[in-house]
Amino acid sequence: LTDPSATFLLFGATGDLARRMIFPSLYNLLSDGLLPDDFLIVASGRSAMDDAAFRKEVDAALKEFLAADRYDAERAKSFVGMIRYQPVEAGNADQFRALADRIDGRADRGLSVYLSTPPSLFAPTAQGLAEAGLITPKTRIAMEKPIGKDLASSKEVNDGIGALFDESQIFRVDHYLGKETVQNLLALRFGNVMFEPLWNATAIDHVQITVGETVGLEGRVSYYDGVGALRDMVQNHVLQILSIIAMEPPARMDPTAVRDEKVKALRSLRPMTDETVKTHSVRGQYTPGAVKGQIVTGYADELGKPSDTETFVALKAYIDNWRWQGVPFYLRTGKRMPDRQSEIVIQFKPVRHSIFGRNGHGSGLEPNTMVIRLQPEEYIRLQIMSKRPGLERQVQLEEVTLDVSLTAAFAGQRRRIAYERLILDLLAGDQTLFVRRDEVEAQWTWIDSIIDGWKDANVKPSPYSSGNWGPSSAIALIERDGASWHD
Ligand code: BG6
Repeated sequence: LTDPSATFLLFGATGDLARRMIFPSLYNLLSDGLLPDDFLIVASGRSAMDDAAFRKEVDAALKEFLAADRYDAERAKSFVGMIRYQPVEAGNADQFRALADRIDGRADRGLSVYLSTPPSLFAPTAQGLAEAGLITPKTRIAMEKPIGKDLASSKEVNDGIGALFDESQIFRVDHYLGKETVQNLLALRFGNVMFEPLWNATAIDHVQITVGETVGLEGRVSYYDGVGALRDMVQNHVLQILSIIAMEPPARMDPTAVRDEKVKALRSLRPMTDETVKTHSVRGQYTPGAVKGQIVTGYADELGKPSDTETFVALKAYIDNWRWQGVPFYLRTGKRMPDRQSEIVIQFKPVRHSIFGRNGHGSGLEPNTMVIRLQPEEYIRLQIMSKRPGLERQVQLEEVTLDVSLTAAFAGQRRRIAYERLILDLLAGDQTLFVRRDEVEAQWTWIDSIIDGWKDANVKPSPYSSGNWGPSSAIALIERDGASWHD
């Protein structure tokens, strides 16, 4: 790590994300010797507290959220010793000045600011930083999603931050980009010779991307209702996966080259219309049911009132460019699914001529499938045809699996929190795994076409019992095309 920021300034330090992810990640970076010796963490939140009380809270969070074998009392003590706490309310100039005092003239040695607050506070916080003299060319700012709720509001957020920071200083977080398995998609596509020649409409019939979660609202009612699965998951995580699967090869692994190609893919998404939303999209909302043997309540019961927010969405998307012409990308994500499971399925076309009887009929010939499982396990499985041993006149084929378990291949490697990679890159100033403004805007442009279509065509969520893969119309969405969701 060359010349990392000497100070990390966290807003929203008493929030859930900070406790679950950010402090445990920083602790892990410290344990791995990746933070400068005199690293300083300045934490700020709205509650009034002194350093000692806040350090105690962080220590408790580490105990609760670090992997069991990672917590070490001595190390935790030196970690919390790096933290200073300063209460700050947006708009309170005195508190921002106090914050600057606590940073103690170190800002010019590199200051990485992390906004883990509601987006309405992004611009006022940036303003407060500017007034306190904390924005220098060596200041970087990271922002959590949601960046807006549509294109227009995302532009407002970006304008607010962009008035004070250059784009090269802005790090928009999509934590899926911090996942090893998502980064591995680049290695798989561009570090091997055998996939890329087939990675197009000539050989691929369709692509499926599934991000399933078993959890429900988890106390996030106030954020989630009115937002829904399309904005919460598709606009960011699912479209990031899609763009990496669909992009052209970047010339090199650098922030400009990689993000240029991703944004080109995102801009090629065919907008939905009031007509296509009816057949190319499904909204669902979970009702009571059972997930992994546990009885769970429905969304409306958790919320305490009926709602039109979707907790599941399935889409059929097209990328209108040379490589992907006519190849549907089926996307689905939802809460209260049967399994926490994220995967990409590349469904290849049938062989172009069967030597095993007409169309392979009766021989068992099936098109190849590649499954890239992102979580919870990490594997790549390629279904290929093989001759079943036997003396039959007609060759009998059977699918066998080329199975690469990345979990097994890299056994002994600690499974990192996605935020470790992202925080390290923020400190080092590498934007490759952060979302550029034009990317967010391309994402929202496409999402807006769906939201507008839903509004105009009055598409409401259909109910699905918790523990199912969405409403039956989600199955029909793909089966109508003669395909089916990978089981
Ligand atoms: C967040 C969403 O961005 O991602 C949550 O707001 C969702 O609703 C979460 O649960 C999923 O992340 P992961 O890493 O658990 O797949």
